[in-house]
Amino acid sequence: TPFWVVIPAAGIGQRMQADRPKQYLPLKGRALIEHTLDCFLGHPDLCGLMVCLADQDAWWEQLPCAADGRIQRCRGGRERADSVLNGLQALQQQGARANDWVLVHDAARPNLLRSDLDKLLQHLAADPVGGLLAVPVRDTLKQVGTDGRVQSTPDRSRFWQAYTPQMFRLGDLQQALSSALAAGVSITDEASAIEWAGKRPRLVEGRADNIKVTRPEDLEWLARH
Ligand code: C5P
Repeated sequence: TPFWVVIPAAGIGQRMQADRPKQYLPLKGRALIEHTLDCFLGHPDLCGLMVCLADQDAWWEQLPCAADGRIQRCRGGRERADSVLNGLQALQQQGARANDWVLVHDAARPNLLRSDLDKLLQHLAADPVGGLLAVPVRDTLKQVGTDGRVQSTPDRSRFWQAYTPQMFRLGDLQQALSSALAAGVSITDEASAIEWAGKRPRLVEGRADNIKVTRPEDLEWLARH
């Protein structure tokens, strides 16, 4: 299944309390984002890869992969959805068509395995909507009130964590993201835009260790694995 990739990497990563955006933090001697790109760059069905960067990004140009001809860059936006929309438009200028598959993957998710990527591609290649890697929640969930006390305990068997890559047709995703943004609804992943457009993405169970680096201990954990 031929596919394009958009890597939103224009966030500032406030929760990491680091001196640079989290995707540029060192992991096993390279920047985190370089590990993230590995899995896609090694895939024979990759058509092209777009990295969305903040205007004031001073780090990307210093990485060895900045010189890799298979990687293009575009400008990020105010919200993640703006960044991804810019990425989709830039891919079209590279020749991507509305009906092509696009995989959107967090820059800060460096531990994607080829087996999970292939599982996603295989399960969704013939799907009319598309979908995403996801992991069933392990812990019991609590809904809390503003007073910090438990209000309810939902049935955890029906809750999954949304991971990336998320895989949709370029045209569908573009339309869904633009209308969600125009309507002012808050979108934290691509699937929510597709859902907002009235479609139901398919979940493909992925590995729990495809984590998104959010807190300092996440990076410590990855360094040990
Ligand atoms: O903040 P969070 O961890 O949810 O960000 C997920 C991904 O979205 C990160 O890779 C981040 O760089 C990216 N992002 C972006 N543009 C924004 C905000 C976040 O590309 N405006």
